[in-house]
Amino acid sequence: MRHFLCIQDCTSQQLNHLLELSIQLKGLHRQGRLKRTLEGKILAMVFEKASLRTRMSFQVAMADLGGLAIHLKPDDIGILGQREPVKDIARVLGRYAHGIMARTYSHQTLIELAQYAGVPVINALSDWSHPCQAMADMLTIKEHCGRLEGIKLAFIGDGNNVARALAFASAKLGLSMAIASPEGYELDDQTIQAANAERPCLVQLRDPVEVVQGADVIYTDTWISMGQEAQTEQRLRAFQGYQVNAELLRHAPNAKIMHCLPAHRGHEITDEVAESPNSVIFDQAENRLHFQRALLQELLGKQ
Ligand code: CP
Ligand code: NVA
Repeated sequence: MRHFLCIQDCTSQQLNHLLELSIQLKGLHRQGRLKRTLEGKILAMVFEKASLRTRMSFQVAMADLGGLAIHLKPDDIGILGQREPVKDIARVLGRYAHGIMARTYSHQTLIELAQYAGVPVINALSDWSHPCQAMADMLTIKEHCGRLEGIKLAFIGDGNNVARALAFASAKLGLSMAIASPEGYELDDQTIQAANAERPCLVQLRDPVEVVQGADVIYTDTWISMGQEAQTEQRLRAFQGYQVNAELLRHAPNAKIMHCLPAHRGHEITDEVAESPNSVIFDQAENRLHFQRALLQELLGKQ
């Protein structure tokens, strides 16, 4: 594995290996026995958008493994390609760092960085996908449900970057996923076909109640992703009826509740549900760190 841009690009074997390594490193971390496998390694972290979990977990993971992460904020280099071409940024960063982690508006920017950098590039969220989130979520599901094979994942809301990454993770790792979205906000046909070509596993539906029936896990994400703020009013209208709340959970009372965070309580999820005993949202946030450590060791450790 050279880069980590999209779950779809990885084999099931590679993803399972990353999960096993995450579990192993999580165990060593808890025992205070992590090795400094990335001593002398530098990670450049480029952000076009805000971040709490992704920024912190990558920076802590690099520190844990003896490496250094350098954070380039939107104020530092702005939207990639505006101050200088993406291909130039890629080649400059590739001369200083052993890997690049980037959070971009356009997925195409990541592809271009990967094409020119000469070092591994990691997707820290783009408009197309959030693969590090989906893998931390797979780790969380495995821990809480004891397995991934045959798990029923219900996604309520926007067919966005997080939903797409979960769809491909489900296809590769043996889960089935049903998604309920309002008209115009479904997952795109290309994603649905590609995920189902891998393994028939994904259905796009309209009715949240239908989707949560028999679910092991109910997942939701914001109705307004970063960069979509201008559509706030129309999105708030469109997503009425797609809130994960106590009424919806009556149809799947034992399901674990997941959210990638940040959560907008009162919109896609109620405070009551986010704080309920079945909510595993902070385990997901913690597992970002454990997955990132494995990913960095795999990509940068072999440089
Ligand atoms: N879930 C997630 O990626 O959070 P941040 O946007 O805070 O990094
Ligand atoms: N879909 C959200 C995820 C944030 C982690 C966004 O892109 O803003």
